[in-house]
Amino acid sequence: MRSKIVAGNWKMNKTLAETEALLTELSAKLPDTQAEVMVAPTYINLTAAVRHLASSSIEVIAQNMHFAESGAYTGEISADMLLSVGIDTAIIGHSERRAYFGETDEILAKKVVTALEKNMRVMFCFGEELEDRKSGNHFSVVESQLKNALFSLDASSWSKIILAYEPVWAIGTGETASPEQAQEMHAFIRKTITEAYDTGIANKVSILYGGSVKPANAVEIFSKPDVDGGLIGGAALVADDFVAIIKAI
Ligand code: PGA
Repeated sequence: MRSKIVAGNWKMNKTLAETEALLTELSAKLPDTQAEVMVAPTYINLTAAVRHLASSSIEVIAQNMHFAESGAYTGEISADMLLSVGIDTAIIGHSERRAYFGETDEILAKKVVTALEKNMRVMFCFGEELEDRKSGNHFSVVESQLKNALFSLDASSWSKIILAYEPVWAIGTGETASPEQAQEMHAFIRKTITEAYDTGIANKVSILYGGSVKPANAVEIFSKPDVDGGLIGGAALVADDFVAIIKAI
């Protein structure tokens, strides 16, 4: 059985006080669930979040990390720094990192390798832009993103990988891939991994969908057989919405 996961990517939102308030509310309202529930507050609030959730099953993860071990990388955060405050999972490859911070497949591949060397889990994000979908190139774009960043990994590394398919045109736009579009792409991703590795790996990796998931559409999206959960942006900032999405899984 693959793990079901609901993760909230808080992006550049919430001050310290707001972070603690949201975590308090989430912990109080957290439903009974088999799914792994994760939140990714901003770096500066990770330590506080880990402390705040010490007796909760909600896991704190990072939105990003650098590929270097340490050194002259002003403004960056290393794997060891994350591990030292109790974080062992990082989101890598979010489309906003790719679009606004120039993170290429090559950079992302290095980040993935570093995270795995540190025995961290990687939530790897990828997905096509609107033009790719309009021109029918969405499958080849997704395939090359996976190939460039992940397909040099050895088979054993895949137990540490979580995938998050996030079509860029659906992120923060209110526009969602239809459940059929999500299922079609997730099945394609599994087929691509089967070809690069084997069905064992393809069937074990959790593939989350991200892009305007809301309480109103979560049940339908999560009901698809190859969708193992969601990476939630905007709706993760409101406790009741995030809780409704957790219930949907
Ligand atoms: P959204 O963001 O749910 O606000 O579309 C998803 C994401 O960027 O991970």
